Amino acid sequence: MSTTTAQTADYRTVVRERRSVRHYDPTFKIPDSELREMLEEASLAPSSSNSQTWRFLVITNDEAKKRLHPIANGQQQVLDASAVIVVLGDLDGYKEMTRIYGDAVRAGYMPEDFAKQYLERSLPMYAGLSPEKMRNLVGFDGGLVSMQFMLTAKSRGYDTVPMGGFNPEKLIEEFKLPSNLAPLLLIAVGRASTPGRPTVRLPIDDITFWNKIEQ
Ligand SMILES: Cc1cc2nc3c(=O)[nH]c(=O)nc-3n(C[C@H](O)[C@H](O)[C@H](O)COP(=O)(O)O)c2cc1C
Repeated sequence: MSTTTAQTADYRTVVRERRSVRHYDPTFKIPDSELREMLEEASLAPSSSNSQTWRFLVITNDEAKKRLHPIANGQQQVLDASAVIVVLGDLDGYKEMTRIYGDAVRAGYMPEDFAKQYLERSLPMYAGLSPEKMRNLVGFDGGLVSMQFMLTAKSRGYDTVPMGGFNPEKLIEEFKLPSNLAPLLLIAVGRASTPGRPTVRLPIDDITFWNKIEQ
């Protein structure tokens, strides 16, 4: 059974119907060109100083899925989903800000002297971050792009499951990742064969505080 959402699904429907799906039709393949479009939409997500430190390793072929499967604790969706996106955080990614801000200037979105001053202030700040702070920064941005990818997929009638259940050291070794790329999350994406289970959320009034937190 498919849990597809109409192509034109509005945001509220998409956000309410998205569920983690763990059973996929193994015969269904999302074309690479559409996966590319979905990643492009996902990467419209916000990021720290627009540094866009996310990187994507897209696993679509059976050979690569079989190598990833044991690393992802044998989760069946790795084999059956159309693709698994390995969301990576580039610990040196802030260096691309020179290109990003240059492009913004050329596009007329930003005055050149603003870009120059901003880069002069920001690049040394990013370069001086501790490894822990940099890991947190790329992890935060990676979370935002991951969520946006999952909603984009749902809006196109596909389903996803985010997976933190994998061994990052083994992934780095097996896929020969350079030391600047930190694995953040795996996202399986494809056509559901069984719908995701409904899940509950804490009541919003139990987790929301207005203007102050009573101790
Ligand atoms: C960071 C993160 C790691 C997760 N890891 C896994 C995982 O390894 N395997 C899995 O089946 N689901 C995983 N999930 C999915 C959660 O179990 C799921 O999002 C949660 O139960 C809420 O259900 P829903 O996504 O259907 O709303 C993960 C979710 C997040 C955000």
